[in-house]
Amino acid sequence: MNVAGEVVVITGGASGIGRGTALALARRGADIVLADVNDRRLAAVEAEIAGMGRRVVAVHCDVSRDDDVQQLAERAESNLGPVGLLMNNAGVVLRGALEHVDLADWQWCFGINVFGVIRGINAFLPRMLERRHGYIVNTGSVAGMVALTGEGAPYIASKFAVVGLTEALALYCQPFGVSVSLLCPGGVRTNLAETGRSIGMSPERQVAETRMAQSVQGGPELEAEYVGELVAQAVRNETFLILPDDVHAELLRRRGRDLNAFVKSRLAAQ
Ligand SMILES: NC(=O)c1ccc[n+]([C@@H]2O[C@H](COP(=O)([O-])OP(=O)(O)OC[C@H]3O[C@@H](n4cnc5c(N)ncnc54)[C@H](O)[C@@H]3O)[C@@H](O)[C@H]2O)c1
Repeated sequence: MNVAGEVVVITGGASGIGRGTALALARRGADIVLADVNDRRLAAVEAEIAGMGRRVVAVHCDVSRDDDVQQLAERAESNLGPVGLLMNNAGVVLRGALEHVDLADWQWCFGINVFGVIRGINAFLPRMLERRHGYIVNTGSVAGMVALTGEGAPYIASKFAVVGLTEALALYCQPFGVSVSLLCPGGVRTNLAETGRSIGMSPERQVAETRMAQSVQGGPELEAEYVGELVAQAVRNETFLILPDDVHAELLRRRGRDLNAFVKSRLAAQ
């Protein structure tokens, strides 16, 4: 898709990968609707994009709330016009000692990471299908393709759901002229740790678990603006899978070849 002149909505657009993608798409001539719960950062990114000469609207929107996401779609359309591209990107990390992670914690994580994406699809997809024009980018994670650590189970499960949902969404939408991409980053320098929750883990265990996740992911920690550029290029070329580095591609190949042997080798290495 050529995004010049398109209206783009990005959830979690006030920070990190969402901000990086907003800047990259604005640079290519898109008008931007930023949706986030962090009002201070929303205002800062809104000013950055306005400074680039693009139309921009910042909307306080909690993707875990049905009404917020419906109102986001209405405000985007009434302020800037039909939405060409939606990026379901808002996400949070939940990890913990699984015997202490209660259902409310799981629901918090899935309410944002999974149902946030579903709410976005429900609010925006019908209008795209009607127009036979549109693009959806969902932010998964390498943690949606490989279980990085045991304590990461809630986040990992939510991102596996996003990966499956997005693959199916691409199949569903293609006959209607709506394209879909799945972004699966590894480590990216963002503010994600600020909103994350760790349940029942000692500070030492949190550090050890983070190290373990990083060692499985491998690869460098990327800058969010670089990842935003990759998303913009993938949208231009209508590339389904956006894997920001080769280390993950190899990890996925190993897992895909023989899941049993892959998990066995991980268990033996613990
Ligand atoms: N940073 C990484 O290493 C990494 C790796 C893989 C995947 N991801 C995914 O990338 C996406 C973006 O995260 P990021 O790393 O840029 O982090 P970030 O914290 O910098 O940005 C995420 C934004 O989402 C917003 N947000 C959180 N809950 C929300 C809600 N309920 N409604 C609306 N907005 C909400 C936050 O306020 C924040 O501005 C997430 O889905 C995350 O899981 C990040």
